[in-house]
Amino acid sequence: MEEKILILDFGSQYTQLIARRVRELNIYCEIYPYNNPPNQEKNYMGLILSGSPFSVHDDKAPSIDLNDYKGIPILGICYGAQMVASKNGCRVLKSKIREYGRAKLTYVDHQNLIMEDVKIDSDVWMSHGDSIQNDPEKLDIIASTDDVEVASYHIRELNFYGLQFHPEVTHSQEGKKVIKNFALKICGCKQSWTPDLFIEQTVNDLRDKLGSDKVILGLSGGVDSSVAAFIINKAIGKNLFCVFVDNGLLRKNEFKKVLNSYNDLGLNVIGVDSKEVFYKDLKGKSDPEVKRKSIGKNFIRIFEEEAKKIGEISWLAQGTIYPDVIESISVKGPSATIKSHHNVGGLPEKMNLKVVEPLNLLFKDEVRKVGRSLNIPDSILDRHPFPGPGLGIRILGEVDKEKVDLLQDADDIFISSLRESGLYKEVWQAATILLPVKSVGVMGDERTYEYTVVLRAVTSLDGMTADWSRLPDEFLADVSNKIINRVRGINRVVYDISSKPPATIEWE
Ligand code: XMP
Repeated sequence: MEEKILILDFGSQYTQLIARRVRELNIYCEIYPYNNPPNQEKNYMGLILSGSPFSVHDDKAPSIDLNDYKGIPILGICYGAQMVASKNGCRVLKSKIREYGRAKLTYVDHQNLIMEDVKIDSDVWMSHGDSIQNDPEKLDIIASTDDVEVASYHIRELNFYGLQFHPEVTHSQEGKKVIKNFALKICGCKQSWTPDLFIEQTVNDLRDKLGSDKVILGLSGGVDSSVAAFIINKAIGKNLFCVFVDNGLLRKNEFKKVLNSYNDLGLNVIGVDSKEVFYKDLKGKSDPEVKRKSIGKNFIRIFEEEAKKIGEISWLAQGTIYPDVIESISVKGPSATIKSHHNVGGLPEKMNLKVVEPLNLLFKDEVRKVGRSLNIPDSILDRHPFPGPGLGIRILGEVDKEKVDLLQDADDIFISSLRESGLYKEVWQAATILLPVKSVGVMGDERTYEYTVVLRAVTSLDGMTADWSRLPDEFLADVSNKIINRVRGINRVVYDISSKPPATIEWE
């Protein structure tokens, strides 16, 4: 990966977006915290400095030594631009009002490579409390808006370009072009980073790293672990042992379906039916965290047993993706959410295994693109996320086989209907939840006293925040009818209209 761009993060909420924009150009880039940069900075063809919640006037304003990056073109966005202007002796003043929202470019220096073909009058997105003052001795203005004279500037000696606006946000209409101009015309990148290249390089790296070692991987049926499995399989074939555990808390027929499709696709998968082990241990447990621990603990035990049967395993493969990695090294420190969802944390230490994570540099949609290049079917790549503890946290309170059967049937009707109606792809995640209460109903001439299920469907980007999906009335009516008519034991269906926050996606 010779052609890459470095992004230094000063804590902006948009830093990942900058990386997304660069990668959309088929240019590889990496994010590092400003205070913990990589050692070989000279290997990068360009550097981008992110925005920040800090002002250059703050006592603890973050800063870097530009001498470390001599010879590399630099783009500073918002705080990045203010910091460099201020270091270079320009005045950066507190704006009278915080500038937030859309503004229009009223002047653009089309002679400057970074502004080539950038339209005057196009919208740019501003979000700043400080503004850089003009100083013709020290900087060249290359774009302005009505209110902001130095909307963009260039310091030739430093090979530095500063933007007061945010090109990474889609509201900046020419933002992509500015980033592209920087990467191609100024840094000289060739846009050679494609899924196929990623696969080729990763497969070579994996072969070098793993040699003839044995690797074990826990498949969940989800996108990340599947793509990780297929890419490692491409590199080392039968030395990859995938373990797929039926914990009795999967969707209806999921175990068989997924196992068959993995086998058909040539993966070396060991399916382990451990339903009874999980049900037995869940008996009498109703607290969500206690249930999670029980499921996690049994998974590890079964996984270890399988590993022993295979023997002489050196590596544990995981489907960790880039947002998890950035989160754990971020300026703001590791996030609590991620930790609490790691169901099998501690596994590598316990089993004394080295960890291999071939996707830890990819964003979710890049994982899907790589999956497509590996010819993994859409039925696997487009799956909604599904939590490790599965239906165990969608049956509120105590879990038993009868409740699992009920919920599986209701859930199957909901998910199949979403697929049949073409709504599945519009929803980020859908779930059916079994409530631990019974209510009265009538069926024919008979009074019923049965369970209620909740249908939950949300739109989201990453699961951190979510909104409830506005599914059509007729669709919901149809699903409700089908569930009540076909699933004995359920006489009431409700739809969850809560957003996250303050609600969560799962009910437990
Ligand atoms: P919440 O309920 O926190 O869920 O809004 C956010 C996302 O995380 C998933 N989730 C889990 N995933 N183990 C997992 O592997 C868990 O214990 C767990 N709890 C929640 C949830 O399905 C959603 O995608």
